[in-house]
Amino acid sequence: MARFEDVPRYQVRLARAGEEDAICAVCRAGFAVSSAGLLAPATIERQAQQYYDPARVRREIATAGADPGWQGYVVAASDAGAVLGAAGGGVSGGTDGTVGAVGNVYVLYLDPALRGRGIGTALLDFVTAQQRAEGATEQWVSVTEGNDLGIPFYLARGFAVRDRVPFVVAEDGTVEAHSLRMSRQI
Ligand SMILES: CC(C)(COP(=O)(O)OP(=O)(O)OC[C@H]1O[C@@H](n2cnc3c(N)ncnc32)[C@H](O)[C@@H]1OP(=O)(O)O)[C@@H](O)C(=O)NCCC(=O)NCCS
Repeated sequence: MARFEDVPRYQVRLARAGEEDAICAVCRAGFAVSSAGLLAPATIERQAQQYYDPARVRREIATAGADPGWQGYVVAASDAGAVLGAAGGGVSGGTDGTVGAVGNVYVLYLDPALRGRGIGTALLDFVTAQQRAEGATEQWVSVTEGNDLGIPFYLARGFAVRDRVPFVVAEDGTVEAHSLRMSRQI
């Protein structure tokens, strides 16, 4: 699958038990790189501890697909077993209440050294296929405003910015950053 000589051969597939530490490492690294200068270091650490915690990710691997709202962690795994990138999403009711109409991409991160080689697209394609299989015809993602590593990628994949919403609210109530809500038809 690899198109670049410096990318190991890999496959995109559902994550397996035991891959939680590697998924957390890749997500923490990708989140830190893409949030630098946008979120306070303490916020980045707090978010990482909440979402990219091995015990939590272990449960989220185990419950993949039990409910269409969470279709599981997906990994780009090298033939040697290294996790190069991770993604995950699910399907929720549409704006008119029709269950299965809207796909949500919740997580999409790569080893920062491997950006720009098509792995993110391969992960997004897998998640998109999962969501189409559940009947989704549109797909949404939230990206921190100013994330110049994520927003151009989604624009290149046909997403457009639809809304801007508060993302992180500091403990004193001030809004620390905004998210852009982006969507495309799938
Ligand atoms: C976003 C991310 C997952 C994309 O994965 P990737 O493997 O680097 O992306 P790809 O190589 O598949 O690139 C796909 C397209 O996006 C475009 N693109 C990606 N990053 C870009 C950038 N910074 N500026 C302009 N275009 C960009 C590429 O030109 C390519 O378009 P093309 O195929 O039409 O030429 C990855 O870069 C990443 O982990 N970024 C940091 C974390 C992050 O921001 N995640 C999203 C949070 S919601």
